[in-house]
Amino acid sequence: MAYYEINGGRPLEGQVTISGAKNAALAIIPATILAGEPCVIENLPMIEDVHVLAEILRLMGASVDLNDNGCMRIDPTTITEFEVTFDMVSQLRASYYLLGAMLGRYGHAALALPGGCSIGPRPIDFHIKGMRALGAEVVTRNGIVYADAKALRGADIYLDMVSVGATINIMLAACRADGTTVIANAAKEPHVVDVANFLNMMGASIKGAGTDVIRIRGRKQLHGCSYAIIPDQIEAGTFMIAAAATRGSVVINNIIPTHLEAISAKLMESGVRVTEGDDGSDFFMHVDASCRPRAINIKTLPYPGFPTDLQQPMTAFLATAQGNSFIVENIFEDRYNHVPELVRMGAKITVTGRTAMIEGVEKLYGATITATDLRAGAALIVAALAAEGESKVRNIHYIDRGYEHLEQKMRALGADIVRIGR
Ligand code: EPZ
Repeated sequence: MAYYEINGGRPLEGQVTISGAKNAALAIIPATILAGEPCVIENLPMIEDVHVLAEILRLMGASVDLNDNGCMRIDPTTITEFEVTFDMVSQLRASYYLLGAMLGRYGHAALALPGGCSIGPRPIDFHIKGMRALGAEVVTRNGIVYADAKALRGADIYLDMVSVGATINIMLAACRADGTTVIANAAKEPHVVDVANFLNMMGASIKGAGTDVIRIRGRKQLHGCSYAIIPDQIEAGTFMIAAAATRGSVVINNIIPTHLEAISAKLMESGVRVTEGDDGSDFFMHVDASCRPRAINIKTLPYPGFPTDLQQPMTAFLATAQGNSFIVENIFEDRYNHVPELVRMGAKITVTGRTAMIEGVEKLYGATITATDLRAGAALIVAALAAEGESKVRNIHYIDRGYEHLEQKMRALGADIVRIGR
């Protein structure tokens, strides 16, 4: 199994350019099914999840061309398969967006229930509640969700908990429903807005994305379009945290500053200098951290709160802050699997329920550590870059899922990181 060999203790310095947003790509690619015509999507990150999703769509009969520059041409009109198998879902849980897209386009879909993962049980009950509210008959047999609707009709849907996936999946199906759908308590993440913008480019009528009430007026017909997805808020935040954790000075290009307000605010609260600017065509963020940060407290919340996907890298950063930090993970039940690995590097962290108490130490020391999920892997890389001595980060296939060219980007910032094995 491939691993990263990292010699830590070197401040990251220089510039990095952020790739397209993984969580926008994973929703917009299936959304093309609703168009019933070919679409072109640009600025896709060349990450494992995008390649897996492209392959799933090919297996279903779509024609998908993806070039090395992140430009995908997809013709969904040749789809003949309407079942998302367990194999597909176990490779990529976000293939559940095919449920809303196929139900909206064809009036039927079958989706193997995605299991839980290392951060929690991750049910899709809100997705199913939304499809039923739109008039679909949804039954689960032998671990497969079957959804059928002669005609979808608009409905008022209140989400008991803010859910990115349910918000997007309901939006997809509602695009082709008769009448108007209102999603209340909707997720407001940047990628929810990006999906709504893409659907509107296809001729949908969606208003309010980015607020907690989204209105979708169903359309009989949607059409193909070309679209470039937004930069990745979580990749940008990961680089900001890595710059701060290594006491470096890094300019992060191709970002949308409002998407990074929570992470900028928390880094500044810890004493890190964060400034934003634009070079006339692009916004950038400059993170400059020369001294040891102060301890701070973090609560993960739905956007615009502090993103749960940056909780794990932030834990690695706060492991060497001055004083005791407290982190409360409000979104997922079990998102602290990176903590035992950080403790092996000398961190002093205790987890009680959803709260991690971090007693800042002077420094971390290199060790052989193992990633358990995508963002835990990012946290371990941040820790290894900051630590004194050599680390081996294993299970880096998790990291390949969500960070494009991570090793090259980090090396360009002066990191001593080498991938061993494929
Ligand atoms: C999306 O997951 C992201 N994944 C996650 O990013 C991200 O952490 C999460 O949103 C929160 O921002 C993609 O976009 C592909 P939720 P999602 O529905 O949609 C519970 C990464 O690292 N819930 O907002 O699955 C759920 O268990 C990944 O890039 C239900 O109970 O998240 C969780 O506790 C990790 N029933 C909470 O709601 C449901 O039907 C929020 O989940 C749906 C969700």
